[in-house]
Amino acid sequence: MSQAEQETRKQVADAYAAAIRQAQQGSGSCCGPATPAGTVAKLAGYEAELDTHKEAGASSFGCGNPLAFAGVEKGQAVLDLGSGAGFDLLIAADKVGAQGKVIGVDMTDAMIEVARDNIRKAGRDNIEVRKGLIEELPVEDGSVDWVISNCVINLSPEKERVFKEIERVLAPGGRFSVSDIVAHDLPPWVREHAQAYSACVAGAVSEEEYVAGLRAAGLVEIEVSERIVYDADQICGLVESDLRSFGIDPTDVAGAFAELAGKVQSIRISGRKPPDRAPEP
Ligand SMILES: C[S@@+](CC[C@H](N)C(=O)[O-])C[C@H]1O[C@@H](n2cnc3c(N)ncnc32)[C@H](O)[C@@H]1O
Repeated sequence: MSQAEQETRKQVADAYAAAIRQAQQGSGSCCGPATPAGTVAKLAGYEAELDTHKEAGASSFGCGNPLAFAGVEKGQAVLDLGSGAGFDLLIAADKVGAQGKVIGVDMTDAMIEVARDNIRKAGRDNIEVRKGLIEELPVEDGSVDWVISNCVINLSPEKERVFKEIERVLAPGGRFSVSDIVAHDLPPWVREHAQAYSACVAGAVSEEEYVAGLRAAGLVEIEVSERIVYDADQICGLVESDLRSFGIDPTDVAGAFAELAGKVQSIRISGRKPPDRAPEP
């Protein structure tokens, strides 16, 4: 990993440590306007889940709902990449039931602390949150039935490594369902904008690159099932809200992002590991 990649990762971790502190105080969050707690999650496609897991939902930083059509079954093992404050972990735990297992991996201590607190309050003992990188998952080969992730892989400076890790940890035939941001034709000033990177915009690759990366990692049956293209108001709201949640005054900056209208979108992408591929000896 290069020094620049390490710095990017630190900057993202610092931004989300600040964001979870702000969210705990009731302000806005990633991928949505600065609105009352839980509204961001509602915009991202959660409805019933918000009633069941109010507190974790209020600290959701997602851009979609990767579990909505995931078909997760009782007794299965689910891994959430970049599990944040644990909203999707709790929803996954509802789906797999007491016989199943849910693991979250996140690199930000403040997020992990809040997630563990939310899990404890919900009284779940089949969810484990591990500290680690999604590029180097602290998870055994071929050990999970599902990989889910919500608005995280765009933040990785090493996306090919993440895609390979998804392939490594999935059991043969195992599936993934990921919500994430993709973008095309971003101007250089956006690509170089540190806070726009943490705001899930500047690090996003195109849908074609995303699909090609998953395919190159050996994953198959890749399908994009949902696309939400952000208009000027939404993209400005997203950046403005994120800058605020990172503790940065967005005045005079967020409006500039209006030129990204139509170039940034949230997608849900799914696929699987081929059933006949056993873990490497
Ligand atoms: C936009 S938030 C999404 C959190 C959660 N998935 C949700 O929907 O609320 C991004 C999360 O990914 C974590 N993250 C970002 N890059 C990561 C990496 N390379 N390894 C592990 N965690 C990472 C951050 O700490 C943060 O909790």
